[in-house]
Amino acid sequence: MHIGAVNIDNPTILAPLAGITNLPLRLLAKEAGCGLVCSEMISSNGLVHQSEKTHRLMDSTPWEKPLSIQIFGSDPGIMAEAARIVAASGADILDINFGCSVRKVLKTGSGSALMKTPDRAREVLRAVRGAVDIPVTIKIRSGWDATGKQALEIAGIAEDCGVDALAIHPRTASQGFRGRADWRIIAAVKQQAGIPVFGNGDVQTPQDALDMFAQTGCDAVMIGRAAIGNPWIFAGVRALLDKQEGYTPPGLEQRFEGMLRYLRASVQYFGETHACYMMRSRLGWFVKGLRHASHFREAIKKISTEQQAVDIIRRYRQTLIGEAP
Ligand SMILES: Cc1cc2nc3c(=O)[nH]c(=O)nc-3n(C[C@H](O)[C@H](O)[C@H](O)COP(=O)(O)O)c2cc1C
Repeated sequence: MHIGAVNIDNPTILAPLAGITNLPLRLLAKEAGCGLVCSEMISSNGLVHQSEKTHRLMDSTPWEKPLSIQIFGSDPGIMAEAARIVAASGADILDINFGCSVRKVLKTGSGSALMKTPDRAREVLRAVRGAVDIPVTIKIRSGWDATGKQALEIAGIAEDCGVDALAIHPRTASQGFRGRADWRIIAAVKQQAGIPVFGNGDVQTPQDALDMFAQTGCDAVMIGRAAIGNPWIFAGVRALLDKQEGYTPPGLEQRFEGMLRYLRASVQYFGETHACYMMRSRLGWFVKGLRHASHFREAIKKISTEQQAVDIIRRYRQTLIGEAP
């Protein structure tokens, strides 16, 4: 699959997740076979006003390439300027957030508020498209009503403005994450669009991804929550697409090695104190469904050094391996 001139070798995408898809997690997803990783959403205002904290969200390494960086905002001039900053940072793809439904973001006319204001959406897209040469993508929801009419309208505008691809998460803005994603809207957008369409929402297993491809005709599957703690889902999708016999879910060794690498990368990137604070909850993602997971989560909540985390992970691994039939 291609997004503009960027080649994606596995049609799987790590969804942008605020506070989660930072560099260490993206590297883990990439190692696990993900075709395209995305940054979390980044404020166009923060970029343009040179906020150091905001700029840090664009940190990257060549290992994770290709990288898509997502920005949000609603002022065409500021969005264009932010897009130039993103392109200059070396990002391969610039993504625009049309889906966030957090009140603070909606109040500024950004995120899914743009789906209610098609004229403003067009201005933003024209300004951004004119500002950069790298591929531009957007990520939308169904819109504000469940029919998907707004998704079709915004998809049409995006294509007119020269957007290279779009991702759709078919829940309404007011739905948040409740209910089920309505994959029929992905199929409708795909049928209309002349650009690649990425389906997103409720893919929990590699088989779900295959079902999404089959039911919607989408060009790539974007996975968010299910990839947190299980980045190997991307390799699973690839294996099923290649019709490899019997996809095997990640084994214990793979999971524990992944946790240790994620921990190490987080300590290197954020420093030990901050990384340990984050790891207190995040390492728990990786043990979902394993025996004694709640004991592990209790223990990991108390760490303040990398060595403590490593010891707890190793002890837990020994316990599970010792019990294995
Ligand atoms: C904690 C969290 C943070 C999110 N942050 C973003 C974001 O920064 N940008 C964005 O476009 N979508 C964001 N989303 C939406 C996801 O990208 C995705 O559309 C949604 O989770 C549905 O996909 P899934 O069922 O595979 O998780 C976020 C979702 C969650 C749960």
